[in-house]
Amino acid sequence: MELPERRLPDQYFFENLSEEQMDGLMAQGIHLVDSALQYQEMMMMYNCAIREVRTKLEVLNADLSVRYQRNPIEFISCRLKKPMSLFQKLQKKNLPLSLSAIENNINDVAGIRVICSFIDDIYAVAAMLTAQDDITLLETKDYIKNPKANGYRSLHLIVELPVFFSDQKKNMRVEVQIRTIAMDFWASLEHQLKYKKTVRNEEAIVAELTECAETIAATDQRMMEIRNKINENAENPDVDEANTEESLREKLDRFNIPSL
Ligand code: GTP
Ligand code: MG
Repeated sequence: MELPERRLPDQYFFENLSEEQMDGLMAQGIHLVDSALQYQEMMMMYNCAIREVRTKLEVLNADLSVRYQRNPIEFISCRLKKPMSLFQKLQKKNLPLSLSAIENNINDVAGIRVICSFIDDIYAVAAMLTAQDDITLLETKDYIKNPKANGYRSLHLIVELPVFFSDQKKNMRVEVQIRTIAMDFWASLEHQLKYKKTVRNEEAIVAELTECAETIAATDQRMMEIRNKINENAENPDVDEANTEESLREKLDRFNIPSL
């Protein structure tokens, strides 16, 4: 059997077009690529804003770690909102699919999650970050003092900061979510439930999750109280002993120059 010569589908399409139609297609193509390039540039800017805020948080942690032997931040994770989520959020808000609509209305294109050990660390980190004079706090949602009905707890901040690019300074918004390790553990599991289309016994599972959130909140509170007791009961080096070998040992023990 003789097979016809294999041709790319585009060949059939283009060869029947008039010159005018070809010009139109070219214009559309250029517009599409221009939009894609602008989108890429905008995402690069949000990515840079994330890096700026991440560095600020890392600086705070490094400073506190050297001066007070405390690491309030356990870890930091960052994400850029995916095109699909951006699309869905614009649709939900009845906004046009445009870059300016994203820039002016979506505050969580750039997201940073900060995981702390203790509840008071969350507020300390938030206060130190927002006190910086290049940071503007646009919004605070305190789901720790006012948990969501399902038990979700976390401190959300929307901050704006200037980022310096090659030819301009641009104010960029970043969403910062700060929570404890336990709150994060809970939110990850609860998020899995939200992603599944249908889950049998969903109501019972939701109720169980809410109960777990209460247990976690109580445990977070107790852990903080225990840490306070440890600190209160730890013997501080006596002023009279300031020049003793014990004091020298204690100071030497703090030597831990952070490497780059
Ligand atoms: P979004 O449209 O979801 O961004 O909500 P919002 O703009 O009203 O902001 P909100 O501060 O309430 O929530 C923002 C983000 O917090 C979400 O995108 C999630 O990452 C997280 N979040 C909020 N509520 C919950 C929750 O009930 N469970 C979990 N797992 N995460 C939540
Ligand atoms: Mg969001």
